[in-house]
Amino acid sequence: MADQSDTPIKARGLEGVIALESELSSIDGQQGELVYRGYNINDLAANASFEEVVYLLWNGELPTEAQLDTLTERLQSERALPAPVLDLLRATPDTAHPMAVVRTAVSALGLYDDEADTATPEANRRKASRLLAQIPTIIAAFSRIRSGHEPVEPLDTHSTAYNFLYMLNGEAPGEAAERTFDVCLVLHADHGLNASTFTSRVIGSTLSDMYSAVTGAIGALKGPLHGGANREVMRMLLDIDEQGADPADYVRERLANKERIMGFGHRVYKTMDPRAAILRDLVKDLSEERDARKWYDYSMAILNTMKEEKGMDPNVDFFSASTYYMMGLDPDLFTPIFALSRTTGWTAHLLEQWSDNRLIRPRAEYVGATGKSVTPISER
Ligand code: CMC
Repeated sequence: MADQSDTPIKARGLEGVIALESELSSIDGQQGELVYRGYNINDLAANASFEEVVYLLWNGELPTEAQLDTLTERLQSERALPAPVLDLLRATPDTAHPMAVVRTAVSALGLYDDEADTATPEANRRKASRLLAQIPTIIAAFSRIRSGHEPVEPLDTHSTAYNFLYMLNGEAPGEAAERTFDVCLVLHADHGLNASTFTSRVIGSTLSDMYSAVTGAIGALKGPLHGGANREVMRMLLDIDEQGADPADYVRERLANKERIMGFGHRVYKTMDPRAAILRDLVKDLSEERDARKWYDYSMAILNTMKEEKGMDPNVDFFSASTYYMMGLDPDLFTPIFALSRTTGWTAHLLEQWSDNRLIRPRAEYVGATGKSVTPISER
């Protein structure tokens, strides 16, 4: 191996740097393709459930029916929160950012897991299941508590999508809502070495524990340049609606002010994000079904303007925003829902990291002052 101190590579934002090998997902930024363990995202979104995708990412292959049943039952049995974590949610200010709440509650979950610091592969797999089972409960419970309702106890039946919508709204979701939400979960489950996944692997690479790594990943996902963009997209759409603005003029004005249009651009995709294409079709269908065509129309006007003005395409966050909104979900829950799904990828990457660990530790080029000497404090 080359001595890195002799051959430093400088890449601001680690752009174009291959930091590790992964078998989990691959992105072709030129063709606009996303593949999980060899399966194209279009195929998975059309033909596999979220739980099947979880199995695939954690184990390397799609499950048999028996394997799927075992995973599903395990997730169903782990959904309830430890009582102190529920108490923590009750004590949290109603005004707290839901991503800060999820981050805090996930960190707290680690305090009540006897296996938190047990680093065997089996214990790490069990923790991955617990996190994936309990994060939906955290989001739904906080959403209900802050609006003055009692949390709804999780079901020990049904899919992750069904149970989450049930806990959130206190009533059974329809088949169409469950399926739409399930597709959204499939689309967000993994995405190469994105910022939050990298964060989780950096933390994991120090041989810290899974709760610490996922807590850090949630912090990274919160930012508007990453998962936080979906909430900002909805703010923009609502703003256009309230102002009665022309979406194209609105976008041009913001671009003229050197503002970024959330939900556009990507570090890897140089064409349309394939997840955005799937979600665009969902938005079209939902907007027709719900007689809410304006959200699709605004979105398409923004998309066309961004293409004309900047040659830029939408990413996953652009159309997920109006999908969730039309499903009746609060805009500030959009990013936590992204976290719910991406927990699959974070934990799969941690299992992969620990199967052949190497500390992730890049270097910085020092550009600060040199040659100074300390003046005694009394003389400064
Ligand atoms: N709106 C307007 N201009 C943009 C945008 C945008 N959304 N994104 C990039 N640009 C411009 C940017 O100003 C720069 O122009 P110039 O060269 O004239 O200074 C040029 O495009 C290249 O941008 P960059 O910042 O070097 O690109 P990057 O690879 O660092 O950024 C990005 C990628 C996703 C952070 C960026 O496109 C962005 O800020 N997008 C908006 C936030 C967003 O939608 N994030 C979600 C990302 S995908 C899902 C996820 O990870 O959650």
